[in-house]
Amino acid sequence: MAEPLKFSVDGQILGPGEAFLPLPDDGLLRGDGVFEVLRLYGGRPFALDLHLDRMARSAESIELPLKRSALEHDVDSLLLSLEHPDSLLRLVQTRAGRRIVTIEPLPVHSPAITLATVTYAPTVVLNGVKSLSYAANMQVTRMAKAAGAEEALFVRPDGVVLEAPTSSIFWATLDGTLRTPSLEAGVLDSITRRKIVERIEVEEGEFRLDDLLASTEAFLASTTREVQPISSIDGTNLPSVPGELTLRAQKAFSVALAEDLP
Ligand SMILES: Cc1ncc(COP(=O)(O)O)c(C=O)c1O
Repeated sequence: MAEPLKFSVDGQILGPGEAFLPLPDDGLLRGDGVFEVLRLYGGRPFALDLHLDRMARSAESIELPLKRSALEHDVDSLLLSLEHPDSLLRLVQTRAGRRIVTIEPLPVHSPAITLATVTYAPTVVLNGVKSLSYAANMQVTRMAKAAGAEEALFVRPDGVVLEAPTSSIFWATLDGTLRTPSLEAGVLDSITRRKIVERIEVEEGEFRLDDLLASTEAFLASTTREVQPISSIDGTNLPSVPGELTLRAQKAFSVALAEDLP
């Protein structure tokens, strides 16, 4: 995570190094809390309501009363003093009820990415929950880097492909079908994934790694990456980078952006 540019804690706007969290707070001590990351385009948040809806579902799943209207107010206040119109907005609520909103620089992503698979059994209790317990997601990226790739790809012990630690995955079969793991497989209900699935034909289901490795093209989808072509998986190069369906997904996502932020 990049060094935040600006924070607010419980509505109080602070600079880097000025924010402190009172302990005890299981948000910090046990990763017990929820978060969201969304993108600001020209100073305007993209799909803020959808992110807050997902945050509310995450909070409900772990029986945490979400202070939604206070968070909305915190976002409005922080955006008033925005200096970097193209940046990330992070929303956090901890178990002790602390509200944290940060503005962070956009990460720089390469035009195409290499992946290494990591076997991972989703924690059923936290399926679809964007909880603060992201240590596994951070660890698999380190493991992928140690294996010589840029990012990890979660694959279930039974061989079913899931997602990357902070993005969804799509790929094209030889007959030109675009596929993505279904939410029931144990992946997050990604907002970027949704915007694509709503606009182009996509087959959702439980698909195995050999299906992905035989694909003609593949891409990651997320708030920070938007639609990012994948160039190789476990050292297997994909033929088209970017392929036709990747370009179609990029276009579909830019239409979604234009509709939401005219
Ligand atoms: C596990 C996981 N999957 C997918 C995504 C992509 O979701 P979104 O498109 O809402 O950014 C994220 C986002 O951070 C994530 O954490």
